[in-house]
Amino acid sequence: MFEGKEIVLGVCGGIAAYKAAELVRLYVKAGARVSVVMTAAARQFVTPLTFQTLSGRPVFLELFDPAREQEIGHISLADRADLLVVAPATANLLGKMAAGIADDLLTTTLMACKAPRLLVPAMNSNMWEDPICRRNVVQLREFGVQIMEPATGMLACGWEGQGKMPEPQEIFDLTRNLLGPRDLVGETLLVTAGPTREELDPMRFLSNHSSGRMGYAIARAAAERGARVHLVSGPVERAAPAGVELHPVISAREMHDRVMALVKDCSMVFKTAAVADFRPACRHAQKIKKGADLSLRLELRRNPDILAELGRLPGDRLLIGFAAETEHLREHARRKLEEKNLDLVVANDLTVEGAGFGVETNVVHLLYRNGKEEELPRMSKDLLAHRLLDRALSLRQTGTFH
Ligand code: CTP
Repeated sequence: MFEGKEIVLGVCGGIAAYKAAELVRLYVKAGARVSVVMTAAARQFVTPLTFQTLSGRPVFLELFDPAREQEIGHISLADRADLLVVAPATANLLGKMAAGIADDLLTTTLMACKAPRLLVPAMNSNMWEDPICRRNVVQLREFGVQIMEPATGMLACGWEGQGKMPEPQEIFDLTRNLLGPRDLVGETLLVTAGPTREELDPMRFLSNHSSGRMGYAIARAAAERGARVHLVSGPVERAAPAGVELHPVISAREMHDRVMALVKDCSMVFKTAAVADFRPACRHAQKIKKGADLSLRLELRRNPDILAELGRLPGDRLLIGFAAETEHLREHARRKLEEKNLDLVVANDLTVEGAGFGVETNVVHLLYRNGKEEELPRMSKDLLAHRLLDRALSLRQTGTFH
C-alpha cells in the first residue's frame, strides 16, 4: 500500500519531533518516498541531517529557496503528495492553519495540498484543552483536515494529561487507512453515537458518560473510505466529521424514530450509542421542587430497545452492536448478540484501563454470529474504527469472518 507513495511529512518544533524520525523509518521501510519539511522551531529539537539520512532525500526548510525556486517549492511538494502528515503538530500550527495563515514552507504546502492531510498534535495538556485550541480543532475538522487525538500520559513538561504524540506505529497504522482504497463506496452506513438524555423537568435529565468518541470515529472512518454515512447522535460536544450527515437527537425515543426512518436505505448499522434503557414516567412541565420531603421516588418506564427492533427487520443489512459491561463480558455480549439477532457484537469491559467511555483508546473483544471470537489489542478509537469497518466488509463479502 505504501509502495511508491509520496508522503510529505511536516515536523514542527516540539519535543516529540524526535519520534518523527522513527515515523520516517517506518514509511521508508514500507516502500514510501518521504519528503520532510521542517519548521524553524523543529530544527531546535532535531537536525535536518537526521531526517535526510533516514529519508534518503534532501530536507525542505525554506519557503524561498533560490536553489529550488524554479519549481516553486511549496507547490511542487503539495502537488506530489499522496498524503501530507504533520507530526508533531504544535498549537501554533493548528492556530495558523485554522486562521488561514501561510507564512512558511510547511503552512503554504498544507494550504496548497489537495491530498488527505493528517495533523498529529502534541502539546501541553492545558494548551490542548484551551478553548482556542478546541475551536481550531473543530474548525479544521469541519474543513476536512484529519486530526488524530493525542494520547494521555506523562508529558515531557511534567504535566499529566492529554497531549502526548501517539506512538509512531499508531500514526503509521492510521495513515495506512488514509492511503487505503475507498472500499466502502456504494455502502450506506447508519451510525448511532453518544448518550441519550431523558428529561425529568426543564432543567434535569437522566443520562450516562458516553462521549460519542467511538461512534464519531466510525462515522469519520467510513466517510474517508467512501461510504455515505448517517450519524444519529445524542448530545455530545464534538463536530460532525467532514462528509457525514448528522442527525442530532436528545432522547432514546427520538433516536428510535430517526433510526427507523433512515434504516431502510442503509446496508450497515453500527449501534454505538449508549441508549438510556429507562426514562422518567412523566416529564414535569415545571421544575420539581424539593419541598419538605427527605426522599423522592422516581418512576421510570422502559425505552424501546432500538437494536432489538432493528434485528427483527427483514433484509440482509449488517447489524453491529456494542456491549459495555462491568462483569461477565463475553457471556453478556453473546447473549446480546443472540437476543438482538446481530452479526457482530463489539464488547468492552469498562473496568479495563484504556477502555470504554471518555478515553481515546479502547480494548475490545469481538463476538461473531458464527461463534468465532477475536480479541483486539488496545488501540486508539480512530484505528479501531477502521478495524471494525474491515471486519464488517469481510462479513459482507464472505458472509462470515474467517
Ligand atoms: N441499545 C439500543 N436501545 C436500547 C438499549 C441498547 O439500541 N434501548 C443498543 C446499544 O446501542 C448497544 C446495544 O444495544 O449497541 C447494547 O447496549 P447495552 O446498554 O450494553 O445493553 P442492553 O441491551 O441495554 O442490556 P443491559 O442494560 O442489560 O446491559
